Amino acid sequence: MLMEVHDLKKYYRKNLLFFRKDKALVKAIDGVHFFIKENEIVGLVGESGCGKSTLSRLLVKLEKATAGSITFQGENILQLRKEEWKRCRKECQIIFQDSLSALNPSMRIRDILSEPLNNHYRLTKEEKRSRITEMTASLKLNRKVLDKFPKSLSGGELQRVNICRALLLEPKLLICDEIVSSLDVSIEASILALLKRLNRELNMAILFISHDIRAVSYLCDRVLVMKKGKIVEVIDNKNPLYKVNHPYTKKLFSSLPINHPSKRE
Ligand SMILES: Nc1ncnc2c1ncn2[C@@H]1O[C@H](COP(=O)(O)OP(=O)(O)O)[C@@H](O)[C@H]1O
Ligand SMILES: [Mg+2]
Repeated sequence: MLMEVHDLKKYYRKNLLFFRKDKALVKAIDGVHFFIKENEIVGLVGESGCGKSTLSRLLVKLEKATAGSITFQGENILQLRKEEWKRCRKECQIIFQDSLSALNPSMRIRDILSEPLNNHYRLTKEEKRSRITEMTASLKLNRKVLDKFPKSLSGGELQRVNICRALLLEPKLLICDEIVSSLDVSIEASILALLKRLNRELNMAILFISHDIRAVSYLCDRVLVMKKGKIVEVIDNKNPLYKVNHPYTKKLFSSLPINHPSKRE
């Protein structure tokens, strides 16, 4: 098992009014259980505000969980010390929707891509160069992009750079939080195909977070359906006979065209 999450909770305290002492609790993640197997593509769907991004941030400790456990490759990451976590973090990469803000605007793409290699490996200049060239080619990124600054890249190119940067660390798990949501349909399709290929070729699991049911149905082996901080159903997308159970899942999936495979009776 690559990752196991047990009874994970994240509560936020929200100030109601500045002069009132009492605070409301927002239960953004409210007792979540799931697992991700090696090499599996798992989807996470649910409407805006249900807690998808909060969950993704918890999984890589960008935020502190209120309660619960997250086991990654057999270790409870919530108990790891800083150095141990750095080693673990390399294997568990995350990419966000806002592809531009993730990149330092004053650095050329080549230097942005070198940074993680400098942080985690001892490589010669030549080794770095060849790894970056190889990976950008594999992601079908034009080599000219390497000498440019983030601002002059298209949305699709930026997201490929983010994927490239994550993949240079050879992660076992890639978490993608709405990474195609702001891209054109054709570019989205090419990124989805890319993720599918990388999953096969690199034996890398993917947690694909999206509110786009269609993208998730195309890509994922299993799909976690989230509602108000809880996982209400896990869809076995590999089983053509699987019928969705929960009324909320039915509602979400009703936006699919009737000829979609997952809707055939
Ligand atoms: N830093 C925060 N402080 C207070 N509430 C937050 C914070 N981050 C998220 N929330 C709340 O947690 C809930 C889940 O948000 P989020 O994880 O961003 O949902 P999603 O990604 O599914 O749209 C929302 O109600 C949101 O307002
Ligand atoms: Mg989100």
